[in-house]
Amino acid sequence: MTLNRRDFLLFLGGAAGAVALNSLQSCGPNAPTQAPSPEAQKFGFRPVKGPMPVTTDGISPAQQLEVYKTYEVADDLILPEGFAYQVIAAWGDKVGNSRFGYNNDYLSFVETGPDEGYLTVNFEYISDIPWRQTYQQVIGKSLPFEEVDAAVKKAGGKNGLNAFALPDKDPIKAKIREICKEALIDQGLGVISLRRKADGSWERTNSQADRRITGISGLEDDKYLKATGPAVAIFQKTQGQGYIDGLGDRIIGTFANCAGGTTPWGTVLSGEENFQAQVAEPVYADGTAADPGELGFSSASIDGQGNVFGLAGNKYGWIVELDPANPNDYGTKHTWLGRYRHEAVGVRVEAGKPLAFYSGCDRMGGHVYKFVSRDPVRDPKDKANSKLLTNGMLYAAKFNADGTGTWIPLKADTPVNPDSPSNIIGQMIPLPGNAGQASPLSYLQAKKDEQIKQFKQKFKTLGDLYTGTAGEKQGAILIDAHYAGNAAGATSTARPEDTEIAPDGSLYISFTAGLSGKEGGPDKRIFKGPHGETPYPYGWIVRLQEVGNDPAALSFRWKILATGGEPAVGGAGFSNPDNLLIDAKGNIWMVTDMGTGGHNKAVQSRVDAEGKPVKKSKLMGVFGNNSIWYIPTSGEDAGNAYLFGCGPMECETTGPFFSSDQKTLFLSVQHPGEAMGIRKDMAAEMREFAMLSADGKEFVQSRKVPVGSNWPGKGANDPPKPAVVAIRRVDSGAIA
Ligand code: FEO
Ligand code: CA
Ligand code: CA
Ligand code: CA
Repeated sequence: MTLNRRDFLLFLGGAAGAVALNSLQSCGPNAPTQAPSPEAQKFGFRPVKGPMPVTTDGISPAQQLEVYKTYEVADDLILPEGFAYQVIAAWGDKVGNSRFGYNNDYLSFVETGPDEGYLTVNFEYISDIPWRQTYQQVIGKSLPFEEVDAAVKKAGGKNGLNAFALPDKDPIKAKIREICKEALIDQGLGVISLRRKADGSWERTNSQADRRITGISGLEDDKYLKATGPAVAIFQKTQGQGYIDGLGDRIIGTFANCAGGTTPWGTVLSGEENFQAQVAEPVYADGTAADPGELGFSSASIDGQGNVFGLAGNKYGWIVELDPANPNDYGTKHTWLGRYRHEAVGVRVEAGKPLAFYSGCDRMGGHVYKFVSRDPVRDPKDKANSKLLTNGMLYAAKFNADGTGTWIPLKADTPVNPDSPSNIIGQMIPLPGNAGQASPLSYLQAKKDEQIKQFKQKFKTLGDLYTGTAGEKQGAILIDAHYAGNAAGATSTARPEDTEIAPDGSLYISFTAGLSGKEGGPDKRIFKGPHGETPYPYGWIVRLQEVGNDPAALSFRWKILATGGEPAVGGAGFSNPDNLLIDAKGNIWMVTDMGTGGHNKAVQSRVDAEGKPVKKSKLMGVFGNNSIWYIPTSGEDAGNAYLFGCGPMECETTGPFFSSDQKTLFLSVQHPGEAMGIRKDMAAEMREFAMLSADGKEFVQSRKVPVGSNWPGKGANDPPKPAVVAIRRVDSGAIA
C-alpha cells in the first residue's frame, strides 16, 4: 500500500503529536519488495521484516540466507506498510495539576461516546539511567543526585540507607525525600480524556476528570487510596508483631503499576507488580509489615523509594480499581484479590454467574490466581458490581502435566501440601515457616523433598501458618498470598505475565520465561521447550479453559498455543511474550519483554570453545528489539506468529488496547534508551550475529545497532521519553 499525497498531508497536519512517516517502511533497509504472502493478505498487513528469519516472513529459507545478511535496527516504532502512529502523550506532559508519568504500561480506553473517552495509563517504574540523565531537561528542575549518592555510599548498609530512621533535621533525609517524591510522582495511574477528529487522529481534551494518582497520593493531600476485604482488619490493627503505619484502611499511593484490566462497568484495574523494589515485601505471621528499614534507599538504582516515607509494605502488591470518569476517585485496593506481584487482570463477567478475575504473579516460580465473587453478576454494566470484589474467594492454580489442573482456595482450612523441590527448576520452594517467629524474613527455602515432609508434619493447614482471629488469618493469607500458595501446593510457574479472557471465555496466559533464580523457578514437568528442554528462556502462550466453561469451576484444562524461540529449533520466532490483546475475532496481539541487557547483544558463535552449544540465554541478541506480534488462535495458522511491529531502542512495547471499533490500537512505548540513555550524535555500532535461517542453516548477519535512543523526538541528541501512541491504518480501516 502506498501513501498518497492526500494521506501524507492529512497525517502531517492532523495529528496532535508527531507522526512518524518512516514508520511506513519495513524495519531494515533490506525489506523485501515482493508481493505480500497469501498469509499476510489474510490478516490485513504484510509482516514487517525483523532481524531474524521466521517462517511467517514470506521469504523462502534459501532466500533468507541472502536477505538477512545485513540488517539495520531503527530507533523508531516500525509498523507494516499502510500503518502510522501518533504520539498521544509523553513523560512530563501536563496531566491535571501534575504530569504524565514515566514508563507508561497498561492502557485502558473507556469510551464515553463514539469518538471520545478516558484513556487510563499505568506508570510502572522509573528507569534509573535515562531518568537521572534527562530529568532536568524534561521536567525543568534539578535533583540532588550527587549529594545523595555520596551520603548513601558513606552511610548505606547492605539493604541501602535507612532514611526513615534519620532525624527529620538531617539535610540528607530531605534530599532523599525530594528524589523519592519525584520518582513516586512518576508512577501510579493517569487519566487523560481524548477525542477523535474527523481525520482519525486523536486530541487531548483536558477534562475535569484528567488527573494523576501517584505513588504519594495521600501523603501531602487527603487523596488516599481506599481498601476493601479481609486485609483491612490487618491494616486497622493498632498493635501487632510488625510495623503499623497508623493510617488504618487509608493507603498512601500506588506504584509499580504494570498491566491491568477493564471491567464492563467502566472501571480500570491496575496491577501493582514489582513493589518489592520500593518497600519491604516480607510480613509477619499476623500479616503486619516489616519495618521500613528492612529495605532502605539505594541511590545507585533509585530503589527503596518507600523507605523515607515509612510506607507499610503490606499495603502494596494489590489490584487497584479506578473509575476514570469520577474525578474524586483515587482508587481502591481490593484485598480479596491477593497481594503478590500482579501483572494484569483477566476480567470474566457474565450475567447470572459469579465474576472471575484472573491474575498472575510475575516472579520466577510465581502462581496464576483466580478470584471468584460470592455473589453472581446481574447486570455486567452496573457500577455497583465493584461491590462483588469485596466478598468471595482467591484460588491459586495447580497445573498437572497431563493438561488438567485444579484451583486451590487460599483459606485457613486448606491443607498444607507443598510441591517437591525436586520438580522445580533450581530446586527451591520458599515457604512461610515463620509462625510465631520474631523476624518476618525467615521464609523457609525448601531445597530437599525431605524438608517438605517435615513441614507437612509441623503445619497441617494454612491457618497453622498465620495468627489472629479467623478474619485476621484470612487477611494475613491474602497479604502473604505467594508464600501461602506455595504452602498449599500451587504450581510454581514460568513468570506469568498477561492473563486475558477471549470472547469464548478461555483464558490466555503468557509465561514469559522458564528460568530459575533466588526466589524460585518453574515446575519442570510443565514448562519445557519444544524438545523437552529445561530451563527454557523464551516463554509460552497457554490457553486455559474452565471445565464446563464455568467461571467458578474448580478444575480446568490447559494447552500451549505458541512457544517462543528461533523457528529453526521449534519456536514461533518471538521471545518473552508479555502483554496480550485479544481482538473481536479471538486472535491475539502480543508484545514481547526481552530484558534490555540482551537486546542486539552480539552472538559471535553458537558453540563455545569446546564445541558445545552455547546456552540459549546467550543467544537473546538474535531477536533484536522488543516487538509486536499477531497470533491467530484458530484455523490452519493457529499459533503462528506474524511480526506487526518493532519498538525503538532499548524499549518495551506494552499495554496494547483497541478502541471498540478496532480502528485505533493504543500502545505504550516504555523505557526507550533504558540501558544507554540519550543516543549521542546518532551513534551506532556494527555487530555480528551467528543466525539461523528458518530451516536451520547458519549464516552471519552484520547488524547496525543504534546506541541509546532519541525517541519520540527523533532529533539528534533528543532525550528518550516513554510515550503513548495511537496506531491506525492510513486508509482509516479497522486494524483487526
Ligand atoms: Fe511489568 Fe511483568 O511486567
Ligand atoms: Ca508486563
Ligand atoms: Ca515484563
Ligand atoms: Ca515492563
